[in-house]
Amino acid sequence: MKITVIGTGYVGLVSGACLAEMGNDVLCLDLDPAKIRILQDGGIPIHEPGLGPMVERNVAAGRLHFTTDIDEAVRFGTVQFIAVGTPPDEDGSADLKYVLAAARNIGSRMDEYKVVVDKSTVPVGTADKVRAVIAEALATRGVTLPFAVVSNPEFLKEGAAIEDFMKPDRIVIGADDEQAISVMRALYAPFQRNRDKLVVMDTRSAELTKYAANAMLATRISFMNELALLAEKLGADIELVRQGIGSDPRIGYHFLYAGCGYGGSCFPKDVKALIHSGAEVGQGLGVLQAVEAANERQKRVLVDKIVQRFGEDLRNHRFALWGLAFKPNTDDMRDAPSRVLIAELFKRGATVTAYDPVAADEARRLFGADERLAYADSPMDALAGADALVIATEWKEFRSPDFGRIKTLLKHPVIFDGRNLYEPSLLKAAGIQYSPIGRVT
Ligand code: NAD
Ligand code: UGA
Repeated sequence: MKITVIGTGYVGLVSGACLAEMGNDVLCLDLDPAKIRILQDGGIPIHEPGLGPMVERNVAAGRLHFTTDIDEAVRFGTVQFIAVGTPPDEDGSADLKYVLAAARNIGSRMDEYKVVVDKSTVPVGTADKVRAVIAEALATRGVTLPFAVVSNPEFLKEGAAIEDFMKPDRIVIGADDEQAISVMRALYAPFQRNRDKLVVMDTRSAELTKYAANAMLATRISFMNELALLAEKLGADIELVRQGIGSDPRIGYHFLYAGCGYGGSCFPKDVKALIHSGAEVGQGLGVLQAVEAANERQKRVLVDKIVQRFGEDLRNHRFALWGLAFKPNTDDMRDAPSRVLIAELFKRGATVTAYDPVAADEARRLFGADERLAYADSPMDALAGADALVIATEWKEFRSPDFGRIKTLLKHPVIFDGRNLYEPSLLKAAGIQYSPIGRVT
């Protein structure tokens, strides 16, 4: 099948590469010439495990191409995936300007039947808006052409994006057009060989399904984070509680890890957007408002612990920070808890030496040449002369460090752990003061 993917970010590039891997001819369009240049030169603009080799072999096989040329992109694919960003507007609603611009580009150029697929996360009713924009663009040209708009939200996680796309739990298709549904069925057939994973529904339900999934996962995390704070006050251990409740199959183990708050480009923005959608139709979403407020508080929990230990005035204090990305295996720092942490430490006069295996360049881009933030080449290098260690991301390489060395390098043997990486008894034995989230130390 000939497929165009509009938007070559985390979702667009992964979708394009995985669709090419299954033998399709894929053309990826992005309006950012720098991104396309990197891709055309054989590079990858983001860090995502497994993506580089997959792009390379599909480019070599002649199935995957990149362009900034909108005319070429619209002409190319019978299926046009829209995978552009939907960032939060000032009021928290999802900004649809990129999605609708992509739709307009299709409507003002198409000259045959197209299946237009909304892959971006978009509020309920967006498929109708996309349909209207395309129809309007066709009418302006005085052209009548058949086309379908399908909602096909994406559920991949960064850091495991290839695995998630190649082996999806489910493939949600929102459509009311039989021809388009059969195109989507054929397109996704290779991704569901052991069982039928297609869940076909109307576009509005598909759009809401995406927000419901992210909101549910965010709710579990905020619930556990709040419970962790309670556990600390009551002398209980959230890690044991997690195991105790996760064993109930109705609850399950996933997404019950307490920590320094959820970040990333999706949970924070999607929870806000859903609250906004509710407000627009007069439907309060009190649970989600609490989820969001709890997460905002949680991103400050490590700072509260640092202040408790070292006082409010942190001038002349330097903290080693392990982890900048919002989660391991990505260089993405959108809404990362580390950003709140760094800002709060700066506010109190402290400086930070950070180590992250892949996100340092992204941090340099975000923080510019701020002399309060230094970068180390290894976890141990970050520690030398620092007052204490703070952990914001659970990279594997942080899991089993030499605690003896940590103790010698730090001015004070203290670890503030926002990801609960260590067994408290082990640190006690090593003579390190350990401050995790919701655990008995
Ligand atoms: P991103 O910001 O990484 O990439 C979006 C890309 O679209 C950018 O490269 C931008 O230059 C390009 N673009 C914008 N307007 C364009 C246009 N008119 N034509 C061509 N290119 C255009 O975004 P992302 O993280 O890939 O997310 C995309 C969408 O997918 C969002 O709605 C997001 O909520 C959703 N989503 C993201 C993830 C994830 O893990 N990142 C997972 C599931 C769903
Ligand atoms: C999330 C969803 O998991 C994907 O299914 C969805 O497609 C995606 O959002 C999206 O819509 O973009 P992602 O943001 O890449 O994926 O990463 P997650 O693994 O979900 O982690 C999000 C945040 O929650 C991270 O900051 C992570 O540290 C935090 N988290 C996760 C916890 O604090 N505790 C947990 O138990 C799990």
